Amino acid sequence: VDIVMKKCSLTSLDCRLIVIFCNVSLYRSLAMNPLLIPEAYIIGAQPLCSQLAGLSQGQKKLCQLYQDHMQYIGEGAKTGIKECQYQFRNRRWNCSTVDNSSVFGRVMQIGSRETAFTYAISAAGVVNAVSRACREGELSSCGCSRAARPKDLPRDWLWGGCGDNLNYGYRFSKEFVDAREREKTYQKGSHESARLLMNLHNNEAGRRAVSDLAHVSCKCHGVSGSCSLKTCWLQLADFRKVGDALKEKYDSATIMKLNPRGKLVQVNNKFNAPTSNDLIYIDQSPDYCVSNESTGSLGTTGRLCNKTSEGMDGCELMCCGRGYDQYKAQVVERCHCKFHWCCYVKCKRCTKIVDQFVCK
Ligand SMILES: *[C@@H]1O[C@H](CO)[C@@H](O)[C@H](O)[C@H]1NC(C)=O
Ligand SMILES: *[C@@H]1O[C@H](CO)[C@@H](O)[C@H](O)[C@H]1NC(C)=O
Ligand SMILES: *[C@@H]1O[C@H](CO)[C@@H](O)[C@H](O)[C@H]1NC(C)=O
Ligand SMILES: *[C@@H]1O[C@H](CO)[C@@H](O)[C@H](O)[C@H]1NC(C)=O
Repeated sequence: VDIVMKKCSLTSLDCRLIVIFCNVSLYRSLAMNPLLIPEAYIIGAQPLCSQLAGLSQGQKKLCQLYQDHMQYIGEGAKTGIKECQYQFRNRRWNCSTVDNSSVFGRVMQIGSRETAFTYAISAAGVVNAVSRACREGELSSCGCSRAARPKDLPRDWLWGGCGDNLNYGYRFSKEFVDAREREKTYQKGSHESARLLMNLHNNEAGRRAVSDLAHVSCKCHGVSGSCSLKTCWLQLADFRKVGDALKEKYDSATIMKLNPRGKLVQVNNKFNAPTSNDLIYIDQSPDYCVSNESTGSLGTTGRLCNKTSEGMDGCELMCCGRGYDQYKAQVVERCHCKFHWCCYVKCKRCTKIVDQFVCK
């Protein structure tokens, strides 16, 4: 116990993580004496962590110590998957192969470009949610950001509004999200070991997208909007921007393979090596035309397509040449909207018959 307590001169987060990951048996003995770690007492009181499906062993332990974080981890991962579905709404693969029955119970068996995106965007969602929850005072172990004042901030502007705690959000979600990969052991050089490296890399790329897009935000004070005084803080970007940035990374993702030393290297080394901000993958994607469990493809039968579009959402590409059925569908819209003084807009609801095209 002495050794651990000395390491606790770091923040309390680091301290508890050391307890969990470096010495599981020590953790057990601490857990038996709840006075040593107050949070450990909760283990018996609330069965939350054992009920959450899809947590790995290490994640369960973190869950027990940080029960108040779990809601935000779950929400963050869901925000990530929702963003994924938005980004891919017009594609054959529309991100719905992701098993959302549990927070991280993903069922993508192949290490495709799409799998890479899925990992990155959900890791990003978790950083986002935890950082924000800190700022909002929802978590007992963190608060407003304590990021250093940016050097280029004008001298008469105040630094210190309550900012999103990106530093904490990043570190906690790295421990939590990566835990499930880190506790696996695979034979060096195996396909599984390549997949593990790929997952860790893409998780990190997702987290970095969030931290790279965070920015300084300021508010004016002073008499009648003179803006003689400004207060500034660190603010996360809108999550849509994170989604857009990661989608670009998806488009430029790099295919990798294992080298004899068990490291991932580029298959085609004519290009620049991927950085920690880039997405990597190890398996070619299927065409997602037909359903195939092992590739995570649901197929496109039953998908709506656009008869006049020549893009991926056009019926030709979306339906993979199988053709489509045409239906008349009723849609309800807001119409005849009128502006009323002051200040609201009143609309009527109109029903419209439209043609819909559905892949065979
Ligand atoms: C998965 O998500 C979809 C859409 O977001 C939802 O309709 C469905 O009920 C979810 N499934 C489970 C098992 O939660
Ligand atoms: C599913 O995809 C895998 C990998 O591409 C392939 O080997 C397998 O034959 C496919 N299965 C079906 C039923 O198409
Ligand atoms: C995605 O595609 C699947 C399979 O074609 C379909 O069942 C599902 O409704 C689609 N999801 C969304 C969000 O469009
Ligand atoms: C179909 O595609 C065309 C051309 O890209 C576009 O102008 C139109 O708005 C699309 N229709 C629907 C219903 O999305």
